[in-house]
Amino acid sequence: MTDSSQTPGSDQPLEDRVNNRSQRPTSAAFKSFMASQWAPDLSELPEADAVAPFAAKRRLALSQKFAGERLVIPAGPLKVRSNDTDYRFRPHSGFAHLTGLGLDHEPEAVLVLEPTDAGDGDDGGNHVATLYFSPMAGRDSEEFYSNARTGEFWIGSRPTLGQLSARLGLPTADLLQLEMAITKDAGVVEFGGMRIRLLREVDMNCDALVDTSRINTGVDLERSDELDGDLSEALSELRLVKDAWEINEMRSSVAATINGFHDVVRALPRALAHTRGERVIEGAFFARAREEGNDLGYDTIAAAGNNATVLHWIRNNGTVNEGDLVLVDAGVEAESLYTADITRTLPANGHFNDIQRKLYHAVLDAADAAFAVAKPGTRFRDLHTAAIQVLAERLDFWGLLPVSLEVALSTEGQQHRRWMPHGTSHHLGLDVHDCAQAKADLYLDGILEEGMVFTIEPGLYFKAEDLAVPQEFRGIGIRIEDDVLVTADGCENLSAALPRTAQDVEAWMASVQAGTDNA
Ligand code: GLY
Ligand code: MN
Ligand code: MN
Repeated sequence: MTDSSQTPGSDQPLEDRVNNRSQRPTSAAFKSFMASQWAPDLSELPEADAVAPFAAKRRLALSQKFAGERLVIPAGPLKVRSNDTDYRFRPHSGFAHLTGLGLDHEPEAVLVLEPTDAGDGDDGGNHVATLYFSPMAGRDSEEFYSNARTGEFWIGSRPTLGQLSARLGLPTADLLQLEMAITKDAGVVEFGGMRIRLLREVDMNCDALVDTSRINTGVDLERSDELDGDLSEALSELRLVKDAWEINEMRSSVAATINGFHDVVRALPRALAHTRGERVIEGAFFARAREEGNDLGYDTIAAAGNNATVLHWIRNNGTVNEGDLVLVDAGVEAESLYTADITRTLPANGHFNDIQRKLYHAVLDAADAAFAVAKPGTRFRDLHTAAIQVLAERLDFWGLLPVSLEVALSTEGQQHRRWMPHGTSHHLGLDVHDCAQAKADLYLDGILEEGMVFTIEPGLYFKAEDLAVPQEFRGIGIRIEDDVLVTADGCENLSAALPRTAQDVEAWMASVQAGTDNA
């Protein structure tokens, strides 16, 4: 009997209909033949990933904050793009940080830090970590050829429990054991129960599992939400200072991104000749992101002319005209999921005109002012203060402020922000806007430390409709964005290899387009 011999009627449940297009045989003969004659996997267990000892240190730091409590950190499930088609999988960054797992790993996995007696845990910490995930099904199983989300026949090989354990230096266990691992002994701490802290809103199944356990054991849900929030905050704060492995990953995503900007410059003549030139630019960068990395760290902004004044212009369907400035904000995400975030504003025809050059150098001077204070001991918010002071002075010099410079710079004024309404800096790492759940005390009011990585990205945006600026400024948007590492006594511009001054940008564009640039 084959499945096509019985056509379901109109009473077939909607959720079953997604499989109606399948004509896969269901005969016992097919099933048994599919399950047979596959060569056994004789490969040795893999070596430990280079990141493994770094991830162990990160888990130890977390363990020290939450002694005696069970910590549950999900990777998250696949996300539906449309109907039965999913987006490529990307784990939650907090999970990636604590496991070292990047590209593709591992939908629905959950890291559990089980408390031990103080100091008896992994590396002398207070917990033992176990990674729960669905290992690859054997080739003798139906899942192998019939499950389009997990089966090896559909998506390629996936790790076994032993393989992932060897790579990460962590015990692994089947996801089937997760419920017990999360809920056993859970309850009200005052009555001897185990406190669970969950990284919420990453995996709805984990949220439901933990909430149900809390309800069943009489744990206060509202208070638990706060405790969960503390875990999310701690995971963000753990990423404020990057370790040596992370800094290396940042260097490679920056290098790939710089290569992508070379490709953008090479593509500019074609962009000028195309009705959707911005898409030509976006596509050129994306090709590099896929060739050298995992993906983009965020949607590319390829914005020509007035579109460059739209801060998050990702529609990218505009034309690129001779004489336009083209703002390109793009970052390659490495396979480890660390991303760069770089912006250059390029003259479409290779030459800045006088007005463009004047405005460009105001933005560059603002960036340089932030670079000058980017060193250990500076407060994060003072990067912005330094950059914005330069921009306000320049806007005042050009006669654009409706009040004095002093009034504009006061809290009650801020008129200059009309032309730069965004911040100057954000932390950068696994997320383009990294460490976003960190307390303001440690973020905006935090003190820069060696190993922090952030952007410096001032800009000026004069919209075509802006009647407060001279005609010749209108329709020009400029941002210059670099990725910066705090060193022991200053900072390193990780993206310094990409030209920044107007003159250097012009010379670089000429050499790339002449083919004399060797990148
Ligand atoms: N590309 C987003 C940002 O610069 O923050
Ligand atoms: Mn940025
Ligand atoms: Mn950016």
